[in-house]
Amino acid sequence: MAQSDSTEGHWLSKSGMRKGLRDTVFAVPLVSDVVRKHWNFLSRVGACRGVFSTYQETEDAAATVGPLGYNDHLVFGPEIRGDPADMRKRDYPVLFWLSRALAESSKILNLGGSAGMEYFTYRQFLGLPRHVIWMVCELPHAVEFGSNLARSVNAPELAFTTRIEDGAGADIFLCCGALQYLEQDLAACLARLQPLPTRVLINRVPVYEGETFFTLQSSFGSVVPYRIQNRQELVDSMIDLGYQLVDCWYEKREIVIPFHPARSIHEFYGFYFASNELAAKDWDDEAVATAHEVRARITHPWMARTSAPGTA
Ligand SMILES: C[S@@+](CC[C@H](N)C(=O)[O-])C[C@H]1O[C@@H](n2cnc3c(N)ncnc32)[C@H](O)[C@@H]1O
Repeated sequence: MAQSDSTEGHWLSKSGMRKGLRDTVFAVPLVSDVVRKHWNFLSRVGACRGVFSTYQETEDAAATVGPLGYNDHLVFGPEIRGDPADMRKRDYPVLFWLSRALAESSKILNLGGSAGMEYFTYRQFLGLPRHVIWMVCELPHAVEFGSNLARSVNAPELAFTTRIEDGAGADIFLCCGALQYLEQDLAACLARLQPLPTRVLINRVPVYEGETFFTLQSSFGSVVPYRIQNRQELVDSMIDLGYQLVDCWYEKREIVIPFHPARSIHEFYGFYFASNELAAKDWDDEAVATAHEVRARITHPWMARTSAPGTA
């Protein structure tokens, strides 16, 4: 229960007051930049600082800020492991496209899939076809934790590796909330897989319209390089590899880089790419054309009011 202070008859929780104070400080330009950059940076998980052009430059800069890399002991602590039973709103686009793509003997390469977070969450609703392989490619501590976990519960399809090349032959590539941590970008990761997966599902990736850069993100007492990519560059790199963008969605989520307001991020995106051969099967050309025609013809009342002021 929140602790409370009495102030002239008003009851305010301490956490409410702290939030109010923080919001006030964060609303003042420059002051907020100084606070965001220097105040308790290592304990504010997800906070970012600095703009760098390469992954290596970002790692070098980490030396002056804190220990580099994921904190192995904390990442799977029960307090932050989350509950893999919970579907979140942002998971539904992935669940939708995955449910259409899965077939008997499908192999999924789930890059950055934690200790099976996506597997355990989505499996509840997917009804996995027979002989599916769900291979998670992760950092060594996650692979060790996940492999032990998979042995102790019923997870026959789940496998782990630290080598992306072990995912060769996968028809589905899935990466949720992890692309931004990798040294290589999406196209470079995929190029390590031959043949290329025919479907690529990406979720929760920070992209924007400016130049691609790296920043340092605070991660449970340590810091990790974090890529923020130009959105069109990501899409173009996939088109160059022979994919088409079938669907894309976003959720509101902020990243503020102190002293670099133009580098702020307001949305995290999800993408579904399919190979040129398969993409056409994922939509109905005629229905798409009709939907566009209908949209052009529909005039909502509020649009009519703003487009013709004073004419009513
Ligand atoms: C924010 S977590 C997302 C985890 C999970 N997909 C989810 O949505 O809950 C990012 C994940 O990327 C993983 N990761 C970071 N660098 C990686 C690398 N080089 N190769 C594979 N996984 C990596 C981390 O271990 C971590 O589990």
